[in-house]
Amino acid sequence: MKSRTTRFAAIAAASLLSASVFAQAQKLKVGLMLPYSGTYAALGTAIENGFRLYLTEQSGRIGGREVEFFKVDDESEPAKAVDNVNKLIKRDNVDVLVGTVHSGVAMAMAKAAKDNGTLLIIPNAGAVAVTGPMCAENIFRSSFSNWQPGYAMGEVAAKRGAKKVVTITWKYAAGDESVAGFKEAFEKAGGQVVKELSLPFPNVEFQPLLTEIAAAKPDAVYTFFAGGGAVKFVKDYAAAGLKNAIPLYAAGFLTDGTLEAQGADAEGLLTTLHYGDGLDNPKDKAFRAAYAKAYGMQPDVYAVQGYDAAQMLAIGLNAAKGDVSKKAEIAKAIVSAKIDSPRGAFTIGASHNPVQDIYLRQVIGKDNKVIGVATRALADPGRGCKM
Ligand code: BEZ
Repeated sequence: MKSRTTRFAAIAAASLLSASVFAQAQKLKVGLMLPYSGTYAALGTAIENGFRLYLTEQSGRIGGREVEFFKVDDESEPAKAVDNVNKLIKRDNVDVLVGTVHSGVAMAMAKAAKDNGTLLIIPNAGAVAVTGPMCAENIFRSSFSNWQPGYAMGEVAAKRGAKKVVTITWKYAAGDESVAGFKEAFEKAGGQVVKELSLPFPNVEFQPLLTEIAAAKPDAVYTFFAGGGAVKFVKDYAAAGLKNAIPLYAAGFLTDGTLEAQGADAEGLLTTLHYGDGLDNPKDKAFRAAYAKAYGMQPDVYAVQGYDAAQMLAIGLNAAKGDVSKKAEIAKAIVSAKIDSPRGAFTIGASHNPVQDIYLRQVIGKDNKVIGVATRALADPGRGCKM
């Protein structure tokens, strides 16, 4: 005869099993909150493309569950972010949030994810706070922190002999933090940031600031711009006669997904980023071929981040057998994994941000050609993160 303890254990095991069988029978509701309009619209589409490509490779299932999408265009508009994220969490009852591109919008998403306990994977926005003071067991990033490419470029600029640099960016978290990363490394290496110029996001009236740069005559300029604004900045920098006079260094977003529109004005530019052309690893080759077949174009860094967001979700949910409530199991699986990314394998650090190589790239024709590794296995410091 079975003892009471054995019977109890059997009942508990059966109910646990039926909970995970029940979870797997339900569709996994994934809420995509991305920009589908405005200066970052192309970035949002590339992220969704990458995410869907991985899903197709998994026959449409993650953690044993069929995926159903719910979409919101966040317009890269922080003022609408709380309403938008609540549409997904409260109205659509999503199991997982995936988003977004803009750091200000991502911070509102992270707060909502934390308050509601919803699993959140950020496929771009580099807001340092999200994997710093706002870090949480249920929040992950598949991309970068704004600090990372900036810091790597600070080291590169110093090594290339720049002593005095002017920075120019949009005045919001991404620009400020990218410049802060650059400044930290550059000044540690003996350089000096002599002027920090900025304009509100997403303004593109660069002319008065370019005039100030010409007057300051620095050894180099460091910049963060992305999407449509990056296209205009590169064109305006060249038109102002600065391209051949003052080297322009940037976080790689300046030239990623934008080269077609920037044309010859981007030729030769040096940037730092966690992806680039010509990486020549088997995963990247397969990814590029599959992406080109599915979408009729080459992928960019945003597509890679979307693909890896889906990979990370699968790693977590496969370990938890599709049960999104098992936050500790999901986190343990993601943090222990080596993620086989087109950018090269990377890991997720204690604050849930990628630890990854940052490449030095140069624009050659229509490519951001990788010409070296600027900083190997760079981890964001995760300042203020207490899990
Ligand atoms: C950001 O807002 O964090 C961001 C936007 C576009 C490219 C990179 C970072």
